[in-house]
Amino acid sequence: MTLEGYLSDYRAKTARSRELFEEACQVLPGGNTRTTIFFDPYPFYAARGAGARIWDVDGTERLDFNGNYTSLILGHAPPAVVQAVREVVERGLAFPAPSEHELRLAQELCRRVPSLDRIRFVNSGSEATLMAIRAARAFTGRPKLAKFEGSYHGTHDWVQVSVAPPVAEAGSRRRPKPIPAGAGLPPAISKNVVVLPWNDPEAAARRIEQAKDELACVIVEPMQGIGGMIPPADGFLPALREVTARHGILLIFDEVITFRLAPGGAQSLLGITPDLTTLGKFIGGGLPAGAFGGRADVMAVFDPRGGTPKVTHGGTFNANPLMGAAGLATLRALTPEVYARLDRLGELLRSRVRELFKARRVKAQITGAGSLFFLHWTPKPVRDYRSSRPLDPEQPMRAFLGLLNEGILLSQRGLGCLSAAMGEAEVERFVEALGRVLDREAAR
Ligand SMILES: Cc1ncc(COP(=O)(O)O)c(C=O)c1O
Repeated sequence: MTLEGYLSDYRAKTARSRELFEEACQVLPGGNTRTTIFFDPYPFYAARGAGARIWDVDGTERLDFNGNYTSLILGHAPPAVVQAVREVVERGLAFPAPSEHELRLAQELCRRVPSLDRIRFVNSGSEATLMAIRAARAFTGRPKLAKFEGSYHGTHDWVQVSVAPPVAEAGSRRRPKPIPAGAGLPPAISKNVVVLPWNDPEAAARRIEQAKDELACVIVEPMQGIGGMIPPADGFLPALREVTARHGILLIFDEVITFRLAPGGAQSLLGITPDLTTLGKFIGGGLPAGAFGGRADVMAVFDPRGGTPKVTHGGTFNANPLMGAAGLATLRALTPEVYARLDRLGELLRSRVRELFKARRVKAQITGAGSLFFLHWTPKPVRDYRSSRPLDPEQPMRAFLGLLNEGILLSQRGLGCLSAAMGEAEVERFVEALGRVLDREAAR
């Protein structure tokens, strides 16, 4: 089916969303507040969610394999989390004082992740990476940071570099050029951000060595997340740990997505101890949340006792009680058995999709780990941003819309995740729907 064919099915099902979108265009630029969820001609408007399902304002029900970009690990409106929020909400929404909820969530996160000696809360993953980078600069007294090509760490200036650059303009694979991810970024950003090649330990270490005297930190996702759920090659992350430790450069693991993979995050599976870690998504139980933390000596830059701290860090809504209560209820529900079940379902989904691609001889593959997956529309082995580029740039959008029309919600680029509200029946529905989309693709 052509893109236009998928779109005309989509339009036919989403009349009320279209009306709301047209109204929204009068007050929001392009009707939009969140670039990542927009697609042409207009996104559907959500009405409600329950468990594995999401309903739009036209009443269409879909299975939600997007999970608000991996943040709804228990599914929509899990009763224990809703109850925890209900209890707190009636006693006040936010206070100019810390609450016990902040303390208990902090204790639980530090207990689960041994590298977290100290932690602080923010309202998003973007703020978490912003503040972790600030802490690294303050602690080391060095100005630069290094990040990987294809990695997304949020919306702030310092990480809006080489997120999804046009490959033709991005220099050589082993020495990528910093490419601003849009307009409005100051030139200082490109000068102070060193861009590294993902999954290439020698080339990355060489670039780090070259910049060592000016580098405050290297920020890296233990598995490249929104950029393709691309697992690290053997030895890649240990090499980063070794070279950064040797030069007093802080290693920041951005576990905003990968914290899903185990109670102690991906770092516990890899056996690597970063200096700082950033968290977000489900740690607030579905409410706006983020956190960053790590070594006590580094986090001491925020310690306000005895005068102004080295780094000041306010935030009207930081560690608000709703987020604290919802986050704690979510973590408590995430027992080792739930993680094991999510892992099994993820493995099942990936193997069933692999069989499907093989049986249909489709030039596509699925990557990921645990409950996370990503559909790639290329026959090349996917090991970094460049090798993950689709052969046909329109294909991910056709797959997204095809699945949407089949009652399956993914992300536009192909990212998906499972929630604890799902079982084998949901995996089978996904595979069957993908099969029907592949049939339509074959008939194009
Ligand atoms: C790895 C990673 N870091 C940071 C962020 C930013 O988080 P937020 O959208 O909560 O600002 C994201 C968002 O998807 C992410 O995937």
